[in-house]
Amino acid sequence: MAFSAPDILAALSTVEDPDLKKDLVTLGMIQNLSVSSERVSFTVVLTTPACPLKELIKRNCEEAVRKVIGEAVVLQIEMTATVTTINANPALPQVKNIIAVASGKGGVGKSTVTSNLALALAASGSKVGIIDADIFGPSIPTMFDCENMRPGVIERPGSKPEDKKYVLMPLERYGIKLLSIGFIAPPDNAVVWRGPMATSALRQFINDSEWGELDYLLIDLPPGTSDIHLTLVQTVSVTGVVVVTTPQRVALADAQKAIAMFTMPQINVPILGVVENMAYFTPAELPDSKYYLFGKDGGKVLAKRNDVPFLGEIPLVQRIREAGDEGTPAILQPELPVAAAFKELAGALAQNIAIRNANKDKTKIVEIKR
Ligand SMILES: Nc1ncnc2c1ncn2[C@@H]1O[C@H](COP(=O)(O)OP(=O)(O)OP(=O)(O)O)[C@@H](O)[C@H]1O
Ligand SMILES: [Mg+2]
Repeated sequence: MAFSAPDILAALSTVEDPDLKKDLVTLGMIQNLSVSSERVSFTVVLTTPACPLKELIKRNCEEAVRKVIGEAVVLQIEMTATVTTINANPALPQVKNIIAVASGKGGVGKSTVTSNLALALAASGSKVGIIDADIFGPSIPTMFDCENMRPGVIERPGSKPEDKKYVLMPLERYGIKLLSIGFIAPPDNAVVWRGPMATSALRQFINDSEWGELDYLLIDLPPGTSDIHLTLVQTVSVTGVVVVTTPQRVALADAQKAIAMFTMPQINVPILGVVENMAYFTPAELPDSKYYLFGKDGGKVLAKRNDVPFLGEIPLVQRIREAGDEGTPAILQPELPVAAAFKELAGALAQNIAIRNANKDKTKIVEIKR
């Protein structure tokens, strides 16, 4: 045989992961290598099943290995993924990444983006959950059409009988695990919920709920910078924040404040990127026209100014609003052109989570010293 396993590995060590900027062998991404004179096979383990570069990486592997083995030998490359994590949250040991979705201004589309991102990540093969922590107007129950459902309660045994406690079982809708403040606070009672009860509900969702294994747990936050935000960063190690904004000036100014809060040295949660929602409007009858109702490129400018990734833009489309109100988010309707935009957004987010995990230390849980 003219080649051996080390030759194949040497070839693969010329193939880079474009995001992580290291070669696949150094990154430990090549597994199950099997080499014979007729057949070479191996598995490439990517950092997320939503990786938009999957096909490119596969092609690059093929090219590099073909140079060594020629055209006659069978080459089989399997592409799989194991989502990376650097979190070791005692409260959520099986949850790999906790992603906060924030904005400054209200109504810019946090809940819409959270729902569609969650579903897009799940469609690519990841295990995903959502905590709806918006005490002012929890909208996840509406968007997932489960307003009348309630999470279960199960007994979690402790090491001693007195440590036994009751924990919440998230609901499951469209393959996503869900807990929402809306499930435990009647909507007309929201005012009472501002304050300690809301923060204690969030703590319960994190500390006393049975999430099981998750690759991504998205937290849909209320607008602005509230007690809920502080409670979150004091309760868990947050992998990073997705900032949603419209291109409008006032929305950008508020988004800047949210970025400032998360990046202040005492809090120090990485910004995974900016999503520009309602970026432009395209009427159904003029599919090639784009109307920049809220201004142009504001989200991109915000990302650039803060030196954080721009994750993508979502147009203003009536069907997105209708789909949210109907309880079947737009991404579940693949015939909608905008479903592809959400899918791309999910790929960009997953990529940036992997990059963050490869390059930055885990986020420290914030301790408030009095
Ligand atoms: N790209 C879009 N196209 C059309 N409608 C949208 C789009 N994004 C959001 N919407 C609609 O705008 C409204 C506000 O969106 P959403 O509830 O997601 O915002 P939010 O930031 O979570 O708001 P809040 O601050 O109240 O939590 C909803 O009715 C939603 O359906
Ligand atoms: Mg919301």
